[in-house]
Amino acid sequence: MVKRTDLKTDRFYKRAKKEGYRSRSAFKLLQIVNKFEVIKKGDTVVDLGAAPGGWSQVAKGLVGDKGMVISVDLQQIEEMEGVVSIKSDITKEKETVTAVREKLRSKGRDLVDVVISDTSPKLSGKRDYDHFRSFELSRSALNIAVALLRKNGNFVAKIFQGAYYNKFYKDVKEKFGYTRAYSPEASRKRSAEVYVIGKGLV
Ligand SMILES: C[S@@+](CC[C@H](N)C(=O)[O-])C[C@H]1O[C@@H](n2cnc3c(N)ncnc32)[C@H](O)[C@@H]1O
Repeated sequence: MVKRTDLKTDRFYKRAKKEGYRSRSAFKLLQIVNKFEVIKKGDTVVDLGAAPGGWSQVAKGLVGDKGMVISVDLQQIEEMEGVVSIKSDITKEKETVTAVREKLRSKGRDLVDVVISDTSPKLSGKRDYDHFRSFELSRSALNIAVALLRKNGNFVAKIFQGAYYNKFYKDVKEKFGYTRAYSPEASRKRSAEVYVIGKGLV
């Protein structure tokens, strides 16, 4: 859990405030994209677990006017220019896929180029339990990505490290031509989170 006193000295928190990002997490996605080039101009991106919207801001900036960003969260996401938002529980995978497809169709689009997920469960402080809930969310993100992505599409998902991490990594590896795990500099040192990157849906 993050203490208010920690935030005052956190350089990514300060930079997010200064640069107008809704979350310090925005820098994690920027670091992932710098290293793995998973998002490009014109792409259609689906951002799962998107509130308050830092990753969606970054994605929108990268895809530009010809691209599209669809943000999904349990919570209402405050309106953002050029970003379509959906209130949905990603563990209800079919409902989420249907809702995203409806938005795509309404904009004359069909398939998705990139699915990103920074989804986190509410933390209980019990490491094994939080890990398992994070695994469940990441697994749903992967299933949604496989349903929505075009061939060769890209995927990024957060998972907390723990007993099911290797299984998740292996599941991503089975679906994508290139798979890596990455801890961006903007992740807090104490954090158990890691991002699994899958490039090139087979
Ligand atoms: C760390 S925050 C995401 C921060 C975001 N990437 C940003 O940059 O602003 C994790 C989000 O996951 C969402 N979440 C958790 N469980 C979810 C679920 N089952 N379906 C959809 N969103 C969920 C939470 O509501 C929360 O907004």
